Amino acid sequence: MTRKTLFAVLALVSVVAMLAAQCPMPGQPAENKLEIFSWWTGGGEADGLAQMFKIYSQKYPNVEIINATVAGGAGSNAKAVLKTRMLGGDPPDSFQVHAGMEIADWVKAGKMEPLDDLYKSEGWDKVFPKDLLDILLVDGHYYSVPVNIHRSNVLWYNKKIFAANNLTAPKTFDDFFKVAEALKAKGITPLALGDNGPWAAAHLFEDVLAGTLGQEGYNGLWTGKTSWADPKVTQALETFKKMLQYVNEDHSALSWDQAAQYVIDGKAAMTIMGDWTDGYFVSKKFTDYGWAPSPGTEGIFVMLSDSFGLPKGAPHRENAINWLKVCGSFEGQEAFNPLKGSIPARTDGGKAQYDDYLKSAMKDWATNKLCPSVAHGAAAPEGWATAYVDAIGVFVTKQDVAATQAALVQACKDAGVCK
Ligand code: GAL
Repeated sequence: MTRKTLFAVLALVSVVAMLAAQCPMPGQPAENKLEIFSWWTGGGEADGLAQMFKIYSQKYPNVEIINATVAGGAGSNAKAVLKTRMLGGDPPDSFQVHAGMEIADWVKAGKMEPLDDLYKSEGWDKVFPKDLLDILLVDGHYYSVPVNIHRSNVLWYNKKIFAANNLTAPKTFDDFFKVAEALKAKGITPLALGDNGPWAAAHLFEDVLAGTLGQEGYNGLWTGKTSWADPKVTQALETFKKMLQYVNEDHSALSWDQAAQYVIDGKAAMTIMGDWTDGYFVSKKFTDYGWAPSPGTEGIFVMLSDSFGLPKGAPHRENAINWLKVCGSFEGQEAFNPLKGSIPARTDGGKAQYDDYLKSAMKDWATNKLCPSVAHGAAAPEGWATAYVDAIGVFVTKQDVAATQAALVQACKDAGVCK
């Protein structure tokens, strides 16, 4: 071979190699990646997610995971970013979505792949509880895989403050206000709230609704059986208004986890928030806390579930399907949930190291009456849930009971559920 031919061959080889690198085989993703979109950035949440990534990487070491998070509790910011991406034809491989109504809009827009076959092959239709399977179904099909079950209606309290003031966890609203008065008299902020995203106030109000109307009354609000004009809704708004007198002054500047931090630091005695707070406390190594169902909700479990779906056009579809398998697996759920502060969605889960709170949540999940959370996508479609959150956001500043109730009545009408 002459030098000239050798150079020509080498040049050809490098061009072919360059082209091969740039143009993958048809059907092959450009790079071996997996982009997971979520809003889990806080203590506990991020730790749980990292555990699932670890399991995925052990199984698929050649896949590079892109942890695409958008901070903001309850997905308040993430959902807007997701919308832009989905509508712009740039979906992530898989995204966090609440089980229930929240995914329905994406399904109706034809943007999600049904997962019925995966449910069958993985045996999920047998291993997830019936109540959850019912919530997951959209027009008779499954579109997302649940990783957990969370509880919305938990009152968390600083045990040291309660003991020092001879207080016990309030069970009723009357108890709550007595405890709150006693704390206020001592100069201690009774209730920490962090509603820089208005969902947190709407979350508190859903728990007040459940505590005032009971399971049947509350659930009826979302099916049209209970009128939003009902005097009990008025009563719930009055109670909520009174509660707002006992919250920290800077509530609108704080996030939910900053409010939880107030309880850790003893700057406030209580907070009412979902049990991701347990994950947060664990991540901060805080152990001196107690918990109870939020006032009036003993025997009621206001539930929600985080799940992951498969958008049509996911750039690394096969990797995404493998991700969903990890999400639904025993191993994945047992690694994720003890850190996340949630209980496994699988009925055969709960065998790993769960703390005392989570053990109590498992017991309550099995025995309590269930209510779907509206602030976290289980009770109402996105449009209605947003109208609800907005109405409560306005209420926090204006505190106008009649106007808010009228807005809630209208939201139900606009959703086509109330006449
Ligand atoms: C909820 C979500 C939880 C937790 C919480 C605070 O909507 O279901 O997993 O992340 O927001 O960010």
